[in-house]
Amino acid sequence: MKEKKYSAIVTGVGMYVPDKVYDNAYMETIVDTTDEWITARTGIKERRILENGATSDLAANAALDLIKAHNINPDEIDLIIVATVTPDMFFPATACLVQNKIGANTAWGYDISAACSGFLFAFQTGCSFVESGQYKKVLVIGADKMSSITDYTDRNTCILFGDAGAAVLIEPSEDKSLGLQDYILRVDGAGEESLYMLGGGSLNPPTHDTVDKKMHYLFQDGKAVFKVAVKGMADVSYELMQKNGLTGDDVAYLVPHQANMRIITATAERMGLGMDKVMVNIDKYGNTTAATIPLCLVEYYRDSKLKKGDKIILSAFGAGYTWGSSLLVWGI
Ligand code: UT7
Repeated sequence: MKEKKYSAIVTGVGMYVPDKVYDNAYMETIVDTTDEWITARTGIKERRILENGATSDLAANAALDLIKAHNINPDEIDLIIVATVTPDMFFPATACLVQNKIGANTAWGYDISAACSGFLFAFQTGCSFVESGQYKKVLVIGADKMSSITDYTDRNTCILFGDAGAAVLIEPSEDKSLGLQDYILRVDGAGEESLYMLGGGSLNPPTHDTVDKKMHYLFQDGKAVFKVAVKGMADVSYELMQKNGLTGDDVAYLVPHQANMRIITATAERMGLGMDKVMVNIDKYGNTTAATIPLCLVEYYRDSKLKKGDKIILSAFGAGYTWGSSLLVWGI
């Protein structure tokens, strides 16, 4: 990596999940499925659903939780980056709505669309501003209201997703042994065939026909995505370890995108990590897209399981295809 002025470290975390729970017993009442199938095939037990409000509420509540927990003055926030594929509207950007809701009066911001890899892409971008010395406080938020694009008559997808928002604050440090150390990020647009939402954009602007054809719901060829996700996440995480001369013993935690417990296990195996070194909360929240990785970070940090100096590898795979891994040394 290019020589940087500062190291970008995470100095604060926050999260928000709505109260409403759809557990597997409830899913059994709306589609032809069973708790046994969902648990065995995905590891998910329940997911949270936002009944009133939008993605900016998930994101703003996560940011406010961070601001309160770490006693941050919102006026000191320079930049807000929101990773999401379920923005409140095409425009304005969700980051603008969040800026207003949290009273970050001097911040600017924008959204990043990289689906389940959104947080990784946004985190890398936010860190660059800090590493260059340009900004002192960058808020990176992963938030998705997946229930707004989920077809609750499709058992292939509706059992997978949930709603959540989670945020991290990035600040500069003189200590280069802490913070973001390295990353590998990739995209492959050929993946558009297996995971997408066809309707509503400039390709298929909304009409009665697009709505009748359910084109405003996400579609996933689960089997196809599963195969490339296992390979993509495992390969890139292993490559990042090799590149940085790390063995499984050096890594405190893998922080994987929470899409499927079987993908998480396969990635950990390839990295030579026992499951005690893998952050997991898919059972409680399902796949919350851009929120999964920061949600894990918040919970493990608040449970005192994540300590200053821990080397952690964040890894994700999602629509695009987009995927990647980041090596981060925890800074608080
Ligand atoms: O986060 C972004 C990236 N996304 C991912 O990483 C997700 C990757 N894919 C997956 O996680 C898995 O493919 C799924 C969990 C989506 C599906 O698991 P699978 O083991 O790949 O199942 P499948 O799609 O091959 O389906 C196996 C069977 C099918 O029945 P038949 O055709 O064999 O008779 C499905 O119809 O399971 C059936 N099935 C269900 N049965 C009960 C599909 N969904 C359900 C369900 N309940 N909810």
